[in-house]
Formats: sequence, structure tokens, C-alpha cells
Amino acid sequence: MKVLNLGSMNLDLVYTVDHIVQPGETESSVSMSTFLGGKGMNQSVALAKAGVEVWQGGMIGEDGQPFLDACGEFGVHVDLIATVEGKSGHALIQIDKNAQNCILLYGGANQKLTETYVDEVLGHFEKGDVLLLQNEVNLLPYIVDKAFERGMFIALNPSPFDQKLKAVDMKKVSLFLLNEVEGAQVAGVTDPQAIIDKMREMFPHAGIVLTLGKDGAIYADATQQHFQPVFPVKAVDTTAAGDTFTGYFLAGYTEGMPIPEVLRMSAKASSIAVSRAGAVPSIPWRKEVLAAE
Ligand code: RIB
Repeated sequence: MKVLNLGSMNLDLVYTVDHIVQPGETESSVSMSTFLGGKGMNQSVALAKAGVEVWQGGMIGEDGQPFLDACGEFGVHVDLIATVEGKSGHALIQIDKNAQNCILLYGGANQKLTETYVDEVLGHFEKGDVLLLQNEVNLLPYIVDKAFERGMFIALNPSPFDQKLKAVDMKKVSLFLLNEVEGAQVAGVTDPQAIIDKMREMFPHAGIVLTLGKDGAIYADATQQHFQPVFPVKAVDTTAAGDTFTGYFLAGYTEGMPIPEVLRMSAKASSIAVSRAGAVPSIPWRKEVLAAE
């Protein structure tokens, strides 16, 4: 079984601020840093650091060499990444004094996927292989249809949620990983258990991982439901905490670990990521996760 993550790669321009800037307001930032990120990149690094052999797919611009270098450093395969004219994706991130963030995306190369490219990439995978997706690249409905035709196991993190996701045939998804905001948008209800119940009804064959921020996480499928509380830490930067959870969850899940253990490992990994600055640099190695209390 091989794992493909067909997703975004962003340069994160991170501004530390007193408070998130309001409409019409001008505010000076306290500090500024750049990190590699993007939901696709973050989740591939989390998978690799958790011990999974993973192929990153997607597109970078002419400025994208740092993504290839970082993937190489963490053991993520880069041979399926394409370089196109123009800029890579980037994200403008503000982090306030309570470690809350807000993110403005520029899609760049992430939005330049073509059907020919998708076909070429999926051609390297077969029935039973795993495809991980987020919503920061174009052509998601096409990718899901083609991967389903090939018999791949599709895991979807529908993040960031937007109206374009409505064109995706979510019945083809085997595993959803989403937070309570995205869950409410998919299910049309807001209470966490109601989201789980509704999504179980909508997608009876899928597993559902619902993360609830400081209130923990829930996993449910046709045969089981489990709750995992968070491991409390002093939050420095929550960017990529969800991506770390997703990568670690998929790692444990594909290894066949019991779900309660998968949830525990993912929550620990995510709490470590929250205690560190940046996206990719905040993601812990599995040995750090296992060593953490
Ligand atoms: O999930 C965090 C990521 O969202 C950041 O790294 C940023 O690039 C945006 O894609």
C-alpha cells in the first residue's frame, strides 16, 4: 500500500500581532518570520515524521526549490511534484497574543493542476493505495472521481471549507478528517455529536474524525465511536496543529493500530505542534510523540 498526498505547498509569511487586524485598521506587527507550510506539505511531513512512506503531489512555481529540499530532508518523495511558471502558493498569517491565527491564501501554483497532470500522478498508484486530499488545490472533484475509479482509499480533509467542495462526490470518500467548523458546514448542524450522527447517516461507509480544538477529538464509524481529550500545553502557534493530527491519524490508521491509540498519538503530536512556532518546523517526530507524557 502506497500513500499519495495530492495537496498544496505554501510559503507561510507569519506576522505576530497584538490582535488580528480589523477592517479599516492599520497595525504594526511585533515580529515576522517565514516558514514552509500549506496543508498538503504539512500533512505529508506529519505522515513522514510518523514513519509513513509518502509521495507528495502538486505544483510549485519557479521559486519552489525550498519545498523540494524540505521534503527531501524529511523523506517525502518529490518525484511527482511538478514545477510550473509563476509563483508557488503562499499564506499571510497573523498570530495574536493568544496564539489565535487568521490566514489569507494565495493559491499560485497550487491552483494550476491539470487533468493531464492528475491522470499522470494517479497512474503511479493502484487499488488499495491511499490518497490524502485537502481543499487547497483545484480539480478536487476530478481527482476524487479518478482516484475512486482506480479503487484508491480516499481520505479527505475538507479544509478550508468553501462552496467548491459541493462539487465533490463525498460518497467516494472513505475517511473524513475535519474540525467542528468544517463538520458543521458539511452536516448542517453544529453540536459535535449531531455532526457525527448526521455525517454517519450521510456517509455510512466512511470513518469520521472530528477535531474539536481544546475540547478534544471524536472518531466514529459503523462499528465504534471514541473520544480523545487534548493534552494541555501552552499554545504558541496553532498553525498546522490540525495538519499534524491528520498526518498522525492517517499514519496510525493505515498501520492498523486500534483507534483509541491512534487518537491518543495524534492528540499528543498535535499538542506538541501547538507548543512550537511555524507550520512544517512545528511537526514532531514520532519518537518525540511516543516519549511525551
Ligand atoms: O493548516 C495550516 C496551513 O494552512 C498553513 O501552513 C498555511 O499555509 C495554510 O495553508
